[in-house]
Amino acid sequence: MRTLTDTEKAWVQETLEKIEKKIIPVTERNRDRIPYTTIDGRFDDKSISDPCWWTNGFWGGVMWQLYALTGNEMFRLEAIGVEEKLDQNLMSTQGLDHDNGFKWLPTSVIRYKQEKNEESLNRAMLAANNMAGRFNLAGNFIRAWNNWDDVDRRGFAIIDCMMNLPLLYWASEETTDPRFKMIAVAHADTALKSFIREDGSVNHIVVFDPFTGKQEGTLGGQGYGEGSSWTRGQSWGIYGFALSYRYTGEKKYLEASKKIADYVLSAMPESFLVPIDYRQPKEVSLEDSTAAAITASGLIELAGLLDEDSDKYLDGALKLLKTLDEKRCNWSLDTDNLLEKCAVDYHGDGHNMSIIYGDYYFIEALMKLSGKALRIF
Ligand code: GLY
Repeated sequence: MRTLTDTEKAWVQETLEKIEKKIIPVTERNRDRIPYTTIDGRFDDKSISDPCWWTNGFWGGVMWQLYALTGNEMFRLEAIGVEEKLDQNLMSTQGLDHDNGFKWLPTSVIRYKQEKNEESLNRAMLAANNMAGRFNLAGNFIRAWNNWDDVDRRGFAIIDCMMNLPLLYWASEETTDPRFKMIAVAHADTALKSFIREDGSVNHIVVFDPFTGKQEGTLGGQGYGEGSSWTRGQSWGIYGFALSYRYTGEKKYLEASKKIADYVLSAMPESFLVPIDYRQPKEVSLEDSTAAAITASGLIELAGLLDEDSDKYLDGALKLLKTLDEKRCNWSLDTDNLLEKCAVDYHGDGHNMSIIYGDYYFIEALMKLSGKALRIF
């Protein structure tokens, strides 16, 4: 990957300074919480309203990145607080699923890597074992979600799961037991075959027969519809396959990440403001800034794995991040969130809101560019 120009380095530095200036008062007035979104500019608290929610690790990740940036002990203590609150997930079947990586990578794994403490190791290993137990032998996939609302999800696999595989890769490295990595690789191989389309776009949900493993179809999931191109799903694909390459050295995963990235850069609107779905109707202006931030961080990851041909990915990431900084970041110290115009999905009513993982990946991307990031993957 090319080195940043002096102008780009200065912009990264200035943006991280703005983040530090904002997150200090935001953290001081939100001690002991686990935020997901904001209501009238103030964070909610999922540790009270929904302690098993899938995004509950990301505030811990924000705190660890800010600790790496500033060395301020407040951030470390808040991160540990989030990690401890996640313990109630470990005693709930509904609190454990394919998203265990999203919860315990930015909390227990990141802490264990630094402090080698036994509690974090235990938590992360429990989460990894549970995730490995979701593997379907007939179809070679890790089952997505649990059952609720009478929907049978036994045969569901989703592109998002690629981002959770590093929990399994980490577990194999930590224990020297190859089983976790074997499961991650088997899932990644299924995703290569079943999720990536000819043009480089990816499906959100692929449905298998849970008994025979036969692929039965695909679903539009959180995107516009079947065959569409949910932007956050594309970003999970770019980033997730790059991570599988990082842990395995298998070129096919690197090629997959590049293929999805090339599609995304070709589908990107001129404004670099990312829609909810690259195939949503032209007249619909709905956006998802989380997809922009995750795409940026994924492109930086990909560029960092390439010796040549990486400029277009780094340039794309910088353009996404600068657009967010200028047009979609709320820099007011009185508002808790950073990113605006985030979306849960296309068809629901979770639009034009803030979402914590958007803030996490925006900060993570800038930290990677500065060379100071704590790696959760
Ligand atoms: N993992 C679900 C989502 O990206 O919304």
